[in-house]
Amino acid sequence: MTRLATRPAGGTFPLGNRVVNRMGYGAMQLAGPHVFGPPKDREAALAVLRAAVAGGVNHIDTSDFYGPHITNRLIREALHPYPEELVIVTKVGAVRGDDASWLPAFTPADLTRAVHDNLRNLGVAALDVVNLRMMGNIHTPSEGSIEEPFTVLANLQRQGLIRHLGISNATASQVAEARGIAEVVSVQNHYNLAHRDDDALIDSLAAMGIAYVPFFPLGGFTPLQSAILSDVASTLGATPMQAALAWLLRRAPNILLIPGTSSLSHLHENLEAAGLDLPEAMLAALNAIGRDRSP
Ligand SMILES: NC(=O)c1ccc[n+]([C@@H]2O[C@H](COP(=O)([O-])OP(=O)(O)OC[C@H]3O[C@@H](n4cnc5c(N)ncnc54)[C@H](OP(=O)(O)O)[C@@H]3O)[C@@H](O)[C@H]2O)c1
Repeated sequence: MTRLATRPAGGTFPLGNRVVNRMGYGAMQLAGPHVFGPPKDREAALAVLRAAVAGGVNHIDTSDFYGPHITNRLIREALHPYPEELVIVTKVGAVRGDDASWLPAFTPADLTRAVHDNLRNLGVAALDVVNLRMMGNIHTPSEGSIEEPFTVLANLQRQGLIRHLGISNATASQVAEARGIAEVVSVQNHYNLAHRDDDALIDSLAAMGIAYVPFFPLGGFTPLQSAILSDVASTLGATPMQAALAWLLRRAPNILLIPGTSSLSHLHENLEAAGLDLPEAMLAALNAIGRDRSP
């Protein structure tokens, strides 16, 4: 596959000191079942990463707690030395138990270790973007000060180990608190066609020029299913997942996509979604899905 032209179909948006294509890639699906252990097909995982970059992706989302360590090592093996334009975004705030559990890890020692694990396993001297991943209620945020852990990351940034900071699974007030400590270049929260708690946050971040990166853009472990989505997709001659991604790209200019897949054919399908045009009537029909579910 050839590289996309300089004006990629989905457009671009600034992420830190770089401008990235809005269609990126999330690497979490490359680890084994339950994001734990090695992938069942290592060569296929490496091929997906190489195909993503060849297909125009210059924003990859990862964490050293995927595997753990596995996903970052796959990224390094597939792509190092990294293309100049590639931005790798990682996250810290958890470690994995032997039973694949996700354990909060927010002490200064935990966070410092996590940053060094990411540096070593990705094979870089500084991390492009590090998200402080709050644990909250696992996939939805809960209130509480982020001052202590975010200050630890801000100090590591001052030491030159991190270029830019972001925050993940965070409330609007936690985003504001973080912005009072250091510049926040991105917020990564659970959001998709059917899960729209962050509508107001997205719009306020757009006004400030801050990227919003939805995790579970396709529904994550529970893939999106909707008769309206299927109807829109078939009218467009697209798949439901492509229509769901196209809706996100239309939703706000600061949304950067990181759909996750371990499959080459799904990767190509997702990249093609950046070129889908959603007519107004279809946009309105898709908008109604989230509205129907809101409280
Ligand atoms: N900050 C956080 O707390 C957080 C949490 C979760 C995820 N993330 C990040 O967000 C990224 C995206 O989230 P995600 O990967 O969990 O969920 P997702 O992108 O919503 O969905 C991934 C699931 O959809 C399937 N899929 C992907 N493309 C498809 C297609 N075209 N047709 C049919 N099925 C398709 C994948 O299976 P196949 O592998 O079979 O394609 C996988 O099961 C992750 O990779 C990770 O980097 C961050």
